[in-house]
Parts: sequence; C-alpha cells; structure tokens
Amino acid sequence: MTVAASDDGVRALIEELRSAGDFPAERLSLLNAVPRESFIPSRMWVQEVEDGPYEPVDRATENERWMRAVYSNRVIVTQFDDGATTWPEVGYRPTCSASMPSAVLGMLTELDVQPGESVLEIGTGTGWNAALLAEIVGTQGTVVTAEIDPAMAADARKRLEDAGLVNVYPRLADGSTEPSGEFDRIIATASVHIGHLPYSWVAHTRPGGVILAPMRADLASGPLVRFVVHEDGTATGRAADMQVGFMEMRSQRVPSSVNTDQQWDDPDAELSTTDIAPWVPLLADDHRWPIAVAVPSCRYDVWERTDDRPGVAWLRDPLTGSWASVVPDGSKRYAVRQSGPRRLWDEAEAAYRWWQARGEPPLSAWRWTITPNRQSVTLDGADKE
Ligand SMILES: C[S@@+](CC[C@H](N)C(=O)[O-])C[C@H]1O[C@@H](n2cnc3c(N)ncnc32)[C@H](O)[C@@H]1O
Repeated sequence: MTVAASDDGVRALIEELRSAGDFPAERLSLLNAVPRESFIPSRMWVQEVEDGPYEPVDRATENERWMRAVYSNRVIVTQFDDGATTWPEVGYRPTCSASMPSAVLGMLTELDVQPGESVLEIGTGTGWNAALLAEIVGTQGTVVTAEIDPAMAADARKRLEDAGLVNVYPRLADGSTEPSGEFDRIIATASVHIGHLPYSWVAHTRPGGVILAPMRADLASGPLVRFVVHEDGTATGRAADMQVGFMEMRSQRVPSSVNTDQQWDDPDAELSTTDIAPWVPLLADDHRWPIAVAVPSCRYDVWERTDDRPGVAWLRDPLTGSWASVVPDGSKRYAVRQSGPRRLWDEAEAAYRWWQARGEPPLSAWRWTITPNRQSVTLDGADKE
C-alpha cells in the first residue's frame, strides 16, 4: 500500500501494542504497511475512558483528537443502530466498528494466514482488516470480504479501491449464506451463536484449513474459536488464548427485549434456597460460560442493593417467559424465586456445579465440533460419563 500515515501515530500504537501483548514483529510491521487512518471515517465515535460514554469526533474540526483515537488501542465505532442514529447523536447499539488493534493483530496471528492463500472475511466493516489480510497474502493470494450493511460495504469498497489493493474482492452479502469458492482461511469479525456456525463455511474451506470465529450465547459472549476443517467434512475447534467481544452476526439476531416486569419477591413464585452466591457465576465471564452452554437463550441481570430492597440476580428466558430471582436471605444462603415452565436457576446451578465438580476447566477445555447435521460444545471426557 502507498498511503502516507502519521509516523508518530504508528510508532505510538506499536509501542502501546508491545506492552499489551506478545505480537510477532511481522504482524506489528503491518501497522506501517496498512495505516489504520486510511480506513476510519472522518466522523466516528470513541470512548475516552474504558466503559465510558461514546463521544462523537470529527476529523475536520478535531484532527488531533481523531488521530490520537485512531492510533491507540481502542475500538472506533463507525455506525450505531444499523445507521438509524446519525452522527453526532450517540445511539443505543454499536453496529459497526473498527476493532481494537490488539484484537485485530491477535486474530491475524491465530488465523496463521500465509502468503498466497485465499481468505474469506465475514464483516468487512471499515475494510482495515481486509486490507491487512491482503497485505499478508500478497498478490498471489486473494481476500473476499462480505459485508451485510449496504452503506458500510460501499464505504469500505471505496477505501479498498483508494488503497490500490488488487487482490481484495469486497461483496455486499450476508456472510452466513453460501460463499462461492474454496478458501484456506475464513475469519468472522462478527460473533456467531453457539450451534449456528454456518455449515457452508466448513464446506467451503479446504481440508486442513482454518475457520476463526468469535462465538456467543445470549447469556454470555463466548471464546474466539479456532476450527480446523477435516477431510470428512467436519470441523473441530478449541478456544484461542485471547478474549474478544464482537457484535453478533446481523443475520442471527433474535429480538433482544425481555419482559422485566417481574417482582423479585413475587409471592406466587416457587420459593427455594441455594448456598451459591449468584454474583460469582453470573458476573465472571469464565464462570458464566458453562451456564450459557446449558441455558444459551437466557439473559441475566444484576441489581445492586438499594435502601428498599436487597441486591437481586435475575435470569430470564424470553422464549418461555420463565424467570428466576436470587437474593441474600440474611443467613449464608440465598432465596431463589422461580416462575414459568422452566426452573432457570435450578438449570443454571446444575450446570455450574457440574463444571465446578470437574475442577472449573478453562474456556480452552471446551471442544467444539461441527458436522453437517450437528454442532456441539462439550467438555473433554464429559461425553463418556
Ligand atoms: C466489528 S465489525 C467488523 C470490523 C472489520 N473487520 C474491520 O476491519 O473494520 C462487524 C461487521 O460485521 C458486519 N456483519 C454483521 N453481520 C453480518 C453478516 N451476516 N454478514 C456480513 N457482515 C455482517 C457488520 O455490519 C459490521 O460491519
């Protein structure tokens, strides 16, 4: 690529990334070859502090602030609410972003893509990752990148053209549908619901090839899984050693609103007790995952204690309307109220105890399997119990 970049900015970002992770030198040098600033729109949103509010930034009026954000290890949001919220308004849900550079480089390292290979990317977004992939595979390789949002796809296509990349083929397409061609590598930069990895990705990856996909459930964002495709048309995977959080594939969205009208101390709910403090399994990612595998469509919520009521942990299942509330009962136990056809806390607790009894295995102990007829995520040895 031949786009001028801010040398100071790239240097600062490389320094920041050196302290954030152990990236191979050839991955860090990509930041010089493919400057991030060429792929970020002039108007975007950033969080100035972690978990802080999103703020609009316009390069035309705040160039220095814009550059600082672009050349830092931060997510840059480029669209809210599928485009229904327009800059400078701050929307409800980010629907397109340039991922953190550490996540981008980490995923490229996990993907282990080589010069000359053919790659399919799902989720073009800004086009930056597609350009990085194009730089790695070189002119002997190809990158097909699919984006479902027409406005994002058009902008990215223009940026990729302006960058003079001849080996990238941007497509306006739903990446969960049949791709054409055979690929050495597939990388998803939108998250895939457990049990719903499009089988066509496996069918269109050559045996020995790799599919890298951030997985999720409604209850928890899951691990980044590296699948290897086998001769028999199946794929097996393990969690990569890095945490990512991606927006879900648009084609897999389910209506996200849950009924929250329940009364935590509803006298009609079934009452029981537990000795498990619900905050631990619900608030820690690695603890929540075994529960998410058992009750993937559930949502959780945690209310802090107020003067009028205790802290409350909630589980709610939008499909059946079932819910559970768990509160400290003044002793070392917790009062559990459950209502609806499912006993959500009982299901969650059983899954949690099952995982604890196995020594609380890490995310990497889960084995992911994709066949034409079945998808599963199981703990090593659990199928022989
Ligand atoms: C986190 S962004 C991707 C970042 C991007 N790779 C980059 O370098 O900027 C996720 C993107 O995935 C797109 N997306 C979501 N679901 C999709 C689908 N089913 N097919 C193709 N793209 C999808 C979104 O519109 C969004 O632009």
